[in-house]
Amino acid sequence: MQCLENASLKARNTFGMDVKADRLWILCSREEEEEFLRSPWAKQPFFILGSGANVLFTKDFHGSVVHLETQGIRMGAARDGRVRVEVAAGECWDDFVRFCVDKGLYGVENLALIPSQVGSAVVQNIGAYGREVKDVVHAVKAWHVATAEMKVFSKEECDFAYRSSFFKTVGKGEWLIHSVEFELSTEAAYHTGYGDVAERLQAWGETSLRAVYEVISEIRREKLPDVRELGSAGSFFKNPVISLEKCQALQAAHPEFKAFPASEGRKKLSAAQLIDSLGWKGRRSGDVGVHERQALVLVNYGRATGGEVWRFAQAIQADVQRHYGILLEPEVIVL
Ligand code: EPU
Repeated sequence: MQCLENASLKARNTFGMDVKADRLWILCSREEEEEFLRSPWAKQPFFILGSGANVLFTKDFHGSVVHLETQGIRMGAARDGRVRVEVAAGECWDDFVRFCVDKGLYGVENLALIPSQVGSAVVQNIGAYGREVKDVVHAVKAWHVATAEMKVFSKEECDFAYRSSFFKTVGKGEWLIHSVEFELSTEAAYHTGYGDVAERLQAWGETSLRAVYEVISEIRREKLPDVRELGSAGSFFKNPVISLEKCQALQAAHPEFKAFPASEGRKKLSAAQLIDSLGWKGRRSGDVGVHERQALVLVNYGRATGGEVWRFAQAIQADVQRHYGILLEPEVIVL
């Protein structure tokens, strides 16, 4: 296994923050994962960095950062229209989605082009266009950090919720995901009810697995900045989930605010709409700004520091809180 000391993380986080880690461990196989976990370095807290697409570094990281570069996609035999596919945690999420599209496996095409690794996709329960990773996870194999033993988590044990899981909450810092087993369908099953997906498909001329992948990629490219050109971490805040009563009171004053069904007795609002309504879209201070096409996306125009992005985010948070009495929770991990 490889350890880089005083390692730059600039190319390893999509905000492009120029920070360093005391040690960066690169693990490329199951053996290296185990070797690291049995080493004294794993006895101190460490941070697992996936593709760096959901993290804001505000300072150098004093400690160990672990990055998986494990690979492998193993497809089982189809039975009754279902197929199980086991994928290494270090695989690139979109490579896996494209693998599924090529093999005619339905279930992850709405999650096209999301910058993530497969392991972090589970930690974070990534979601887009009406689907979430939890819809297709069958089981997760993860190392218990304290004992270096592997455990298989059922989907229920993963305790998925909106942009959250066991690994992000109760189990935080205690588990290293090794691989994820997905259950996909070999029979056509489309989920095109979100936004203008159905309309776009019509314009595309056909509804097929590939067409859904392409249409969703197209929407993402139009709305979200390409992180290779402009630093960002996708949605900076989560969409707030509030009580029915609070939602009714807010909509009485602001009938234009959309509300979506959430868990029982609660409603999910569009954070983008709240932020947008206060005139933040396209606003910029130095090299930090709110993206011009999506109010939920903060961008680094070049030389912004993590501290500057975080202060800008807090100003948005305070403004939304003052006007609507809602505290927006960051979706990104702020370190
Ligand atoms: N809207 C505005 N202003 C904007 C953008 C959007 O008012 O600048 C309103 C529009 O009314 C729109 C609604 O917000 O209909 C929803 O917008 P969008 O479809 O872009 O979705 P979102 O709720 O802002 C969520 C996810 C995204 C995901 C999209 C599509 C969260 C925090 N974000 O954004 O995920 O791609 O839905 O499914 O749940 C991410 O997590 O990093 C991410 C990009």
